[in-house]
Amino acid sequence: MLNVKGVKDTRQVQSIALQSRLKIPLLFGLDVIHGYKTVFPIPLAEAASWDMELLEQSAHIAAKEAAAAGIHWTFAPMVDIARDPRWGRIMEGAGEDTYLGSLAARARVKGFQGTLGSTDAVLACAKHFAGYGAATAGRDYYAVDMSNQMLWETYLPPFKAAVDAGVATFMNSFNTLNGIPATGNVYLQRDILKGKWGFKGFTVSDWGSIGEMVTHGYAENDTIAALRAITAGSDMDMESRAYLKTLGTLVKQKKVSMALVDDAVKRILYLKYKLGLFDDPYKFSDEKREKQVLNDTSHKLIARFCAERSIVLLKNERNTLPIQSTVKTIALIGPLIDARADLDGSWAVQPVDTAAIVTFVQGLKNRYGNHVKFLTAKGCDVTGASMAGFDEAVNIAKQADLVLMAIGESGSMSGEAKSRSDIHVPGVQEQLFAKVKATGKPVVAVIMAGRPLILDSIADKADAILYAWWLGSESGNAIASVLSGNYNPAGKLPVSIPRNVGQLPFTYAQLNTGRPVMEDQNTTYKSAYIDVANSPQYAFGYGLSYTTFAYSDLKLSRSFMSATDTLKVSFTLTNTGDYAGEEIAQLYIRDRVASVARPIKELKGFIKKKLERGESETLTFAITKESLSFYNSQLNWVVEPGEFDIMIGSASDKILLRDKIFVK
Ligand code: BGC
Repeated sequence: MLNVKGVKDTRQVQSIALQSRLKIPLLFGLDVIHGYKTVFPIPLAEAASWDMELLEQSAHIAAKEAAAAGIHWTFAPMVDIARDPRWGRIMEGAGEDTYLGSLAARARVKGFQGTLGSTDAVLACAKHFAGYGAATAGRDYYAVDMSNQMLWETYLPPFKAAVDAGVATFMNSFNTLNGIPATGNVYLQRDILKGKWGFKGFTVSDWGSIGEMVTHGYAENDTIAALRAITAGSDMDMESRAYLKTLGTLVKQKKVSMALVDDAVKRILYLKYKLGLFDDPYKFSDEKREKQVLNDTSHKLIARFCAERSIVLLKNERNTLPIQSTVKTIALIGPLIDARADLDGSWAVQPVDTAAIVTFVQGLKNRYGNHVKFLTAKGCDVTGASMAGFDEAVNIAKQADLVLMAIGESGSMSGEAKSRSDIHVPGVQEQLFAKVKATGKPVVAVIMAGRPLILDSIADKADAILYAWWLGSESGNAIASVLSGNYNPAGKLPVSIPRNVGQLPFTYAQLNTGRPVMEDQNTTYKSAYIDVANSPQYAFGYGLSYTTFAYSDLKLSRSFMSATDTLKVSFTLTNTGDYAGEEIAQLYIRDRVASVARPIKELKGFIKKKLERGESETLTFAITKESLSFYNSQLNWVVEPGEFDIMIGSASDKILLRDKIFVK
């Protein structure tokens, strides 16, 4: 069953199942994507924390609340790599990078599943298998065409990481992969997932994706679609009802073997057994526990903690932030200043308790009380062309020492089926920003969105920019905590923010090409555009702090290694600024010459470290075979001898230390 929740309802439905001949208990599944009652930041935002313990903890709280409300199974984590922010579902994953995405997949699976069988764990589901994030031109459900090289190297590793972390279930994706719908794809499910990877759990189709094989033009009717899906390895049919209607006949006709059905059933029964449902079908149906867990106020504190750590400071001219004590009047402007449900973003479990969401204005008032005077004006709507509110906004800006603008897209503009061809800040918000900025007052743009938005003149003119995504229940408090300096921001972008739509899809891990644009910036007959730079507006891995960090003393334990060794790379990180703060130091590697051309850099490690003012510490990365391997043209995972660049920096475009190693 899906979309039945709460102890009362799940218990009632379970009791019906238990009147059936074999009394097999039902499994209740739900999209618990970023929280059940307590809403955590959207997954893309949380990935900006680069804090895997945090991701695990937030998934754990979500699981605990869901399990207390009768849920056994979440359709999460989504581990699709996404490099095109036109795709609305980019908000559900961990962004553009395979290494970061694989760690996030592992952390979330561990968080949801904890110890399976305990009453604070649910079955996790790695979705959508596979390639869904590469939908052509970012249009949801659209075709995916990619080389096997790209599939194995970029899109499959987070799924493999989920398998290695013990994920219980998988979900197919809606798309065709090189012409074959994923739901009927033998290569993906039989050969890779259940074959090579030895996955023992079960695979569920996506909503109606078995039936959609007919619409794709891949099966004549539901019977053939069911035949293709079960043969490919889809064990459970979500919402097509094709198995229900046709599998019996297919078995009688000997088109589907009983062994195949038994295998699918066994995988599902085993997980019901593992959860303990055969011992006690009502194990997750305790009203007292439901009440207690769903009212546990510590969950809000953890949600706030996560939200603070998900915020990325993109710009901070003349130390506009944190807000100084000399600031006495603040103008809060923008269509999202009082937003509530929007702050949860897509995939919050319905119905949302909007009263429990802390708005932007409330958060600031909670933090400053009567110490600061707040003036508020929306100025305009998120979409639409009306500028009728501009004068009021300009008027309050003139009376203020500082302006904080809450702008972006609305919560329903990203998520499933929310692809956008134009990912600028919508409506007349950019014009509103320009008018407010023209008052000469310092203006901080707080961007709320479920994807990277193109910021254009806001990027150039804002005094400071905070990327606040959708941060969930505690949004306002978390944003105020960062603006005030109570928490020093440390998030780094898990996905590049492009300059314009024409650059998409985009990743920092590009190939060099035969005609790279070198530092001389001469772009004639180079792999470049004539109307925009190759670089993004803000690069993967980028994010500022209120303090500054220096990187020095790169040391290699050796400069030669063999494919079986481990080599240590250490360096000194120093907090050179005025505040205690956390830095996320990043290790990138480039394989200079290989049998398949390699990207100019690939993330292979990172360390998040808190340092007090003036404090220094030596940090060490380990370079292993894994860090140097890639899939060759035979799809073997190999290390090839030769020269590798070792790069350490504060962002993919801020490499501060570099050296070379040689692999024998
Ligand atoms: C989505 C899945 C989701 C399912 C069940 C589908 O439309 O693609 O991600 O888990 O619905 O709600």
